[in-house]
Amino acid sequence: MAAAMCYDYYTNRFANPLEEPMSEFVKVGSVDEIPPGEMKIVEVGGQEIVLANVGGDIFAFSNECTHRGGPLGEGLLMDGVVECPFHGGQFDVKTGEPVAEPPTEAVSTYQVRVEGGAIMVLQP
Ligand code: FES
Repeated sequence: MAAAMCYDYYTNRFANPLEEPMSEFVKVGSVDEIPPGEMKIVEVGGQEIVLANVGGDIFAFSNECTHRGGPLGEGLLMDGVVECPFHGGQFDVKTGEPVAEPPTEAVSTYQVRVEGGAIMVLQP
């Protein structure tokens, strides 16, 4: 007998719940803590993730720059772009793509949900 498949709307794919653990959103903070234009570093699943408020929308990405590991959450956030404090590399916080060298690889991004003011991130 074939195992039942479940559609996971967050990952947009079918998954067998008996074979793969379902991804889950975990609460990492509240919107009140991060005013527009600000960032906050949180830890999720043993990884440091940056929450960034861009015009009221919250985005999440890795705190580790893909160039030489600079702490992106300690850099500058300007119009949806974060600048690394080490060598000035820049990333689009929505896509994770680099927009200014020296980094050439995208930084990881994470799905975010806001529920009743709580910020939830899909656990990496
Ligand atoms: S470590 Fe981020 S630009 Fe070099």
